[in-house]
Amino acid sequence: MNAYEWIQYYEKHQHRHATESYDWWAAPLPDGKLSAIQALAGSLAIFQLGESGGGTRLRRYAEALSAEDVAFAGYGRAVELFIREENAHADLLKEMVRRLGGNLLEKQWSNSIFRFVRSTLGLEFNVQVLLSAELIARGYYGLLARHAPDPVIRESCLRITRDEVGHIAFHVDFFRDRLSVWSAWRAALWRAQFQFLFYCARLVVWWDHGRALRGCGISRQMFQEKTGRACRSFLGSLNSGGAKWRGIKAGSGTRVQA
Ligand SMILES: [Fe+2]
Ligand SMILES: [Fe+2]
Repeated sequence: MNAYEWIQYYEKHQHRHATESYDWWAAPLPDGKLSAIQALAGSLAIFQLGESGGGTRLRRYAEALSAEDVAFAGYGRAVELFIREENAHADLLKEMVRRLGGNLLEKQWSNSIFRFVRSTLGLEFNVQVLLSAELIARGYYGLLARHAPDPVIRESCLRITRDEVGHIAFHVDFFRDRLSVWSAWRAALWRAQFQFLFYCARLVVWWDHGRALRGCGISRQMFQEKTGRACRSFLGSLNSGGAKWRGIKAGSGTRVQA
């Protein structure tokens, strides 16, 4: 992978995050739908917790990989910038939760499961679990960008969605290079287990967030369809050489639709 292109991409985004200020927080909330808004605040607070991690182990893994394998030179720095972008999302989500009158979290069960699985089963698996979370997040934010009951939340989610699509493209580059040196059967096995674990993770997320999403008019079928498309698109990109994603890396991601 050409990690240096990703460093440029994230540095450009970092500048945007630093200079972008949002003046919409004082806009009044829409009338009614109080229970839906409360449930959504709770759901966004969980995502806020997930986006706020420091990624210490992942950063260490990426640094080691970029030092030992020339194909991943610069990957450590790219991962560091990627984590900063996730933390910028956490800051934005903090404002969203406050706007909806919710409380920020320090610990939460499904977030703890994700962290436990990531830290227990090896570092490459850590990236895989992270990728599943990204694909689910892409669907989650994309749906809220269209269906959340508050226009400010919709616009905030659209901004995050654009970045998340870039994150998936970043992971496509990583996994394409990792899988390219594996035998066909090992790569096929990896895909099968990835898909299986992705569906398990999606089940957990729906279990945890379904009520909030239903309150926004998002059915389980819509959630499955949207996240399933993100997963298929990722797996397809591993075959196609990732042409679809190259435009995202070259541009700023602003053409992405919710
Ligand atoms: Fe994010
Ligand atoms: Fe992300």
